[in-house]
This record gives sequence, structure tokens and C-alpha cells, in this order.
Amino acid sequence: MTGDEPLVLGIETSCDETGVGIVRGTTLLADAIASSVDAHARFGGVVPEVASRAHLEAMVPTVHRALETAGVRLSDLDAIAVTSGPGLVGALLVGVAAAKSYALALDVPLYGVNHLAAHVAVDVLEHGPIPEPCIAMLVSGGHSSLLLVDDVTRALQPLGQTIDDAAGEAFDKVARLLGLGFPGGPVVDRLARDGDAAAIAFPRAKPKGTYDVSFSGLKTAVARWVEAHEGEVPVADVCASFQEAVVDVLTSKALEACRDTGVEHLLIGGGVAANSRLRALAQERCDAAGVRLRVPRPGLCTDNGAMVAALGSRLVAAGVPASAMDLPADSSMPVTEVVNR
Ligand code: KG4
Ligand code: ZN
Repeated sequence: MTGDEPLVLGIETSCDETGVGIVRGTTLLADAIASSVDAHARFGGVVPEVASRAHLEAMVPTVHRALETAGVRLSDLDAIAVTSGPGLVGALLVGVAAAKSYALALDVPLYGVNHLAAHVAVDVLEHGPIPEPCIAMLVSGGHSSLLLVDDVTRALQPLGQTIDDAAGEAFDKVARLLGLGFPGGPVVDRLARDGDAAAIAFPRAKPKGTYDVSFSGLKTAVARWVEAHEGEVPVADVCASFQEAVVDVLTSKALEACRDTGVEHLLIGGGVAANSRLRALAQERCDAAGVRLRVPRPGLCTDNGAMVAALGSRLVAAGVPASAMDLPADSSMPVTEVVNR
């Protein structure tokens, strides 16, 4: 180890990206990704068995690519971190098995980490130490969570989540019914730029007294509207109006949480954090409320290995004990658990 700067390799396989990141301290050295997204496109969503097989094939080559980019050898590593949950169990198992093998062979500590905590920790690579406490909003195809973060190496407190579809899932389903392909978020984002966000008044579920959100009613409303206007659907207006409803709900709830808890920092992560309108509206509302906003660059918002390495590095630096070698893949790992033992 060079001084206090641990060299950590992070492995992420919870969904469809095989990610391997290498971090020294808080410096990103490599972020190699192999995605199986194309293999899932014709199914309109991620097929777990297809994802697991793709991870198996991509794992070792992706590790080698990361080492080469970082200019380090396996024997230089001080620790291995891996997503042990939550996620698709078969997909997680591939990463966990690989991480155990590397940790055993290299005789270095193994950290099985929580995917959501890693989405928060990744921002350290771009904007420096995570402001604590902060409110973290994680929005992707698999999760829509609002969390209170006192210490990203210890515990995250769940404030709210979606009661049905995740935000990214709603983007994907709406894109599918408009015939726009998978994943839907990026294309809806792009088409919405030429649309009128006020063209159609889609419903916004903002239940009082809870930080939970819901997108299934909105998705159904879009489906009904599209059915009723068959043959003359203004796609850009539908995209813009739907997107506005999603980002309005998300930013309202996030700022409500900041206000209620008196926390002055908001961090947004996950694939949907790449959405240009979400980023703009969050900035506007944070500025108005005196809240400081941090959003990593889009490439660090979507699933990647760097986020796992970033959290691993923080855990080593904080002296958190490593995981046991019989570390499980835990598909429903609770967010209150940062490290799996
Ligand atoms: O974090 P991620 O790569 O994987 C997980 O689901 O965990 O997020 C993928 C999700 C997909 O649902 C995709 O449609 C959505 O993020 N997404 C976006 C954008 N880019 C990706 N949603 C809205 N706008 C975007 N620009
Ligand atoms: Zn994720």
C-alpha cells in the first residue's frame, strides 16, 4: 500500500453490466465495462439467465482490461470489493465467485458491498468526499430509493422507495409502448427535447406523509392516452410530458426529504440520473431551496465497477472489517447493510 492510499479492484455484476473498476484512494484508475444490453433488447428487458451467462464470459477479460488501463498488476492490489446485493441472484453469484477467487489467490481482504451504497460512494471519485449527512436519491431500472446517508461506510437509512415500478422501468415501459426500443430512457430523453412538456397533463402521484413514489399509474395513463390517439400520436410531446411527470415527482420528494430533515446536500445516482431534464430540474429546485446538488457524470451514474471500488476504498480507509470468505450473493440485501459479512 502506498501511504494511506489503498489500491482496490471493484467488481459489479448485479444486473446486465459486467463492471470492473480500479481505484487508488479516491482516484479512478480504470472503469472497464462489458454490457449485455444488446442481448436483452429483443425481450424488452433484462433476462436474468442471459445476463448471468454474459457475466461469466466477460468477467476475466474485463478484469484484464481494467488492470491494463490502470497500469497495475493483480499482485499490486490491496483489496477486492464486489457487489453482493441487491440484484439478480445468478448475476451476483458470478461476481461474488470471481471476487472470492481473486481475494483468495492474492491473499487480500474481500468486501461484499451493497450496490446502493456503491451508487452513493462513486461520487467521491468526481466531487471529493461525500458530504455527510446527505440525502441520496438512487433511480435506475431496478431501484428508486430515497436514503439518508450519515456515513456511507456504516449505514444508509431508507426514507422511501417506489411501491411499484422503478423510475427507469417506467421509462423503459413507455418507450416500449411507443415502439422506441430498449433501454428506453436515453431515447425518451432525446425525443423529449423536441416535445412540449405541458402538452399532456399526465398524473403525478405525490402521496403526502411518505417519501414513497409510484409510477405504475403514470405508465397506465400514458398507455391509455396512446391507445386513444392511435395513428396520430405526437411522440415527442408524449415523451416530454411523461418525462416531466417522472422528474417532477422525483425532485419534489427529494427536496421534501431535504426540507424535513434539514439536510443541505442532495446526491443523485443510478441510470436515470443521466436524464437531462432530471438534472436540470433538480438543479433549479435545489438552487431555490438552498440545497447543494451533486450528480456524478452519466458514465458513473449507470452501473459500473468503479462505484464498487470507490466504496471498497472508503471501507479500507475507515478500517471496516472485511467480509468472510463464505460471503453470499444476497439478492435482497437491505440498504441498511453496507458490507455483507
Ligand atoms: O443504473 P442502470 O444502468 O442499471 C440498473 O437498472 O440498475 O440504469 C438503467 C436504467 C434504464 O431503465 C434506462 O432506461 C435508464 O436507466 N436510463 C435513463 C437515461 N439513461 C438511462 N432514463 C432516463 N433518461 C436517461 N437519459
Ligand atoms: Zn444500479
